Amino acid sequence: MTPDAVGGAHPVDPRPVIARVRDGGGLDQAGASLIAAGLSDGSLSDAQAGAFAMAVLTRGLSTEGRAALTRAMRDSGHVMRWDLPGAVVDKHSTGGIGDVVSLVLAPVLAACGAYVPMISGRGLGHTGGTLDKLEAIPGYDCDLSEARFRELVRDVGCAIVAASGDLAPADRRLYAIRDEAAAVQSVDLITASILSKKLAAGLDALVLDVKSGSGAFLQSQQEAAELGQALVSTANAAGCRTSALITDMDQPLARAAGNALEVAEAIACLRGAPSALRDLTLALAAEALGLTGRDDALARAAEALDSGRAAEIFARMVVGQSGPADLIDAPQKHLSPAPVIRPVPAPDGFVTRIDGTALGNAVIALGGGRVRAGDAIDHRVGLSDLRRLTEPTEKVLGFVHAASDSDADAAIAAVQAAYRIAPDRPEAGPLLRGHIAQPSADAQSMRQQTRS
Ligand code: URA
Repeated sequence: MTPDAVGGAHPVDPRPVIARVRDGGGLDQAGASLIAAGLSDGSLSDAQAGAFAMAVLTRGLSTEGRAALTRAMRDSGHVMRWDLPGAVVDKHSTGGIGDVVSLVLAPVLAACGAYVPMISGRGLGHTGGTLDKLEAIPGYDCDLSEARFRELVRDVGCAIVAASGDLAPADRRLYAIRDEAAAVQSVDLITASILSKKLAAGLDALVLDVKSGSGAFLQSQQEAAELGQALVSTANAAGCRTSALITDMDQPLARAAGNALEVAEAIACLRGAPSALRDLTLALAAEALGLTGRDDALARAAEALDSGRAAEIFARMVVGQSGPADLIDAPQKHLSPAPVIRPVPAPDGFVTRIDGTALGNAVIALGGGRVRAGDAIDHRVGLSDLRRLTEPTEKVLGFVHAASDSDADAAIAAVQAAYRIAPDRPEAGPLLRGHIAQPSADAQSMRQQTRS
């Protein structure tokens, strides 16, 4: 592929680009731009897009090739630019159960002087989605105009919204074709897909939460590390300061799984309750602020939570997105309970293993997640007060919140099957399993970008 082949008056033949990737010759910026443009304007056929995806999956790309594809897919739609007196930062999680970090982290970062234009997604597979959780709040509007999104980020410090149709359109098409062509499981394609959307938000810095364990997409530590390395090297090569934490998903992060129940737990965290959710949120906040040059990041983030400033910002964001003004003070007034709430009985003993994917599937079976895109979800249902690894059961594993008695019976059986109990207490595993740093970037130059 030569650069002069791009941009002529006639549609350019993409086959040399596809053949070069197929033969292991890699992808340059001109080739990546041709593919991304063809994906978004429709001039690349489904067959060509499928062949491209399969060529990448089988032959792989270099860091530069991956960065070229990421940049090209990012630039296939609207890319936001900001002019704010602080760093523009965000987080991406590879997804898990009870992962309600975004609702706490965005206001914590904003309280520390960063600006957080968080563009989030809906539930995927057995994992929940931030937008579904926020829509458990009556009135919460995820579909803001760009002007309103910008206004909230500038005035409040954070907003959490759905992607507009013009965000990385090349990825939307390639993602659907990958699914049909059995070409989803490529680290290169997953990396370009995730980052093209995140980087279109115009970020200065990005922290990644790469989950590993029984409730994660990538269950082994090695797979998680491989994806984390690819994401970190590619995002930095594409010009965004990025690092990753590899974190425990051998159990739900929050004690609840299900939309309204997770919002209630996020509010408890914003009000200062200790939990693994708090610990991970602070670790991610420190990592993100560290990328912007902050040394005292962990203490600042903890202070933002403990002083109530993060809670106040969350409340302003909710009101700014049409939710109720007293959500933080009276969550039970707004978060509807499920009609049936029952305990999950268990033998005495200690929790030695939890199948996180099975718990996620139990929430979907209760109606709290989707089987097909576009399915309606019941925000009230889910699981709460879940026992964590190493804890004594005291004869209960948690509670199911269901729409009917028969749904509750099925969920109780599913939760019981997902837990393993033994007479002896096992060793506790770490919440933080690894750290992948940005490659020798100098964060100092960002120091001035963060408000005091
Ligand atoms: N999430 C994405 O956005 N893209 C992928 O390819 C996988 C997960």
